Amino acid sequence: MSGWPHHHLIDLARFSREDFATVLGLAQRFRTLPVSGGRKLPALQGRLVTTLFFEPSTRTRSSFELAARRLSADVQSFTPSSSSLSKGETLLDTVLTYVAMGADVLVVRHRCTGVPARLVHHLRTLGIRASVLNGGDGLHSHPSQGLLDLLTLARHFNPGDPGPRALEGRRIALVGDVLHSRVARSNLWALTACGADVVLCGPPTLVPDLFRRFVEAPPPGQQEDPVARRGRIEVCRTLEEALPGADAVMTLRLQKERMRQHLLSSLESYHRCFGLTHARLRLCGGSAPVPVLHPGPVNRGVEMSGALLSDPEHSLVDEQVLNGVPVRMALLYLLAASEVAQGAALDQSSLNPSSSRP
Ligand code: NCD
Repeated sequence: MSGWPHHHLIDLARFSREDFATVLGLAQRFRTLPVSGGRKLPALQGRLVTTLFFEPSTRTRSSFELAARRLSADVQSFTPSSSSLSKGETLLDTVLTYVAMGADVLVVRHRCTGVPARLVHHLRTLGIRASVLNGGDGLHSHPSQGLLDLLTLARHFNPGDPGPRALEGRRIALVGDVLHSRVARSNLWALTACGADVVLCGPPTLVPDLFRRFVEAPPPGQQEDPVARRGRIEVCRTLEEALPGADAVMTLRLQKERMRQHLLSSLESYHRCFGLTHARLRLCGGSAPVPVLHPGPVNRGVEMSGALLSDPEHSLVDEQVLNGVPVRMALLYLLAASEVAQGAALDQSSLNPSSSRP
């Protein structure tokens, strides 16, 4: 673990294949460690993880907080509605207040693209060491979701060795509102880095053609792609074209709160064309049940039928939620465990469960 190169986590465009392997390997270890019954791992004892969610969240926030507690960190959470933001305090001053209380990791979600990256810039300028972990910013990036989706798929394809290689050569269909989805963007970086081909499917208003070239442009400030050879991205307009040969299908929520104009004729017609059902999944071919993923929250009967969502033969939605905790434990560990603890490479003392109760 001593070579972990990232002090902050803003997006997955900067991740090499080794970085993905490190997170998946660690998350898989955390997944199999016995942390039930209130037992915790002492790895982050004395560290403070602060969650600052300026936008609503059910899964991400509680999963980060549970992950931090399972590693024995102290956890503090900020709620915008009852904060001094309403008295005019700026976002930066709010964050600095938590830094002054000793926050080691700031998990930040904001509806505006770029807020976590701006915070990193300010913290650097002020010489502050706290790490920023992006919990989702605007349309841009949701790295922990991209990583938990990756672990879920890797465990499905190769339960014995769920590393990046489990994704090599797979065809993954991403269906729906790609344009407004930070989850889709993070998945595009993650899946192609691991050698999977991604087929995007939706109407041109939600899946513009330009997404074909999405991973070709390095993000600002980055010279070159840390991944030598990525999987390809294809764009299809119908499920009939997109699904044949797909090894897994991920469908995305229609992000109505982010649509600035009418991009759909109606939810019913969207479901008729792009909604996943048992019958539609048969288009994938093959004899094994094809796994279906959704980052949640789901609009039942729109992105997929209620019957499919609740069918354990196909639906990995609960598995995604479950995998969120060990993936976020891995991220918090990599960002916040002291260099000494990381050098000891997950040695027994920092990872052996203690019997202390939360
Ligand atoms: C996603 C998000 O907030 O970006 N949800 C999540 O974190 N699980 C996707 C969504 O809101 O549709």
